[in-house]
Amino acid sequence: MNFQYIFPTIIGHCNEIDIAKETLPVALDYLSQDSFINKSCDYRTTFGIELNDDVDKRLLPYCNLIRKSFVEIMTHQGFQVPDIGIEIFFNEMKNDDCHPKHSHPNSLFSGVLYLDTPENCAQIVFTDPRPHVNFIDFSSKDSFGNNQYYITPTSGLFIIFNSWLEHEVLKNKTKTPRISAPFNIHYDRLSFTTKQ
Ligand SMILES: [Fe+2]
Repeated sequence: MNFQYIFPTIIGHCNEIDIAKETLPVALDYLSQDSFINKSCDYRTTFGIELNDDVDKRLLPYCNLIRKSFVEIMTHQGFQVPDIGIEIFFNEMKNDDCHPKHSHPNSLFSGVLYLDTPENCAQIVFTDPRPHVNFIDFSSKDSFGNNQYYITPTSGLFIIFNSWLEHEVLKNKTKTPRISAPFNIHYDRLSFTTKQ
């Protein structure tokens, strides 16, 4: 018998340690300034930084990486590549910080570049998006039979995934902070303006 997986969920990943090293001091700079901090979050994180024409030039390598990865993951699936906007954040997770399960409405793709990952820092966990997957528990040891997928961050790891895919960050247990730069890709807002 032949087996084929249908409706697969795609995640793109690669190692970009040089861009991570370059972006880390920029992240620490933003995180050190109270005016950039979103105080409504349970851990230290910045407001979204829109990567437009006026972008902080220090963020250009990361901006280009996100654009390139978006083109790659879209063309890999045979999709046309629309005009996009990108918003990035800088996160500093200390001991016991976590981020509960969520997705990113109004975005196309989301992802993260890990900038500084102390040993045993919190994993990111993806939940199987199929609604009825827990209808029967087969107790499978096969990775395709599990309904959660765990990734242990390492510095330089870059991942990109559909924004509707639910994910969470488990409780961080490190003495030094776990620093990351998540992003959301959205349609270019200008392309939604009504043409006269
Ligand atoms: Fe997220």
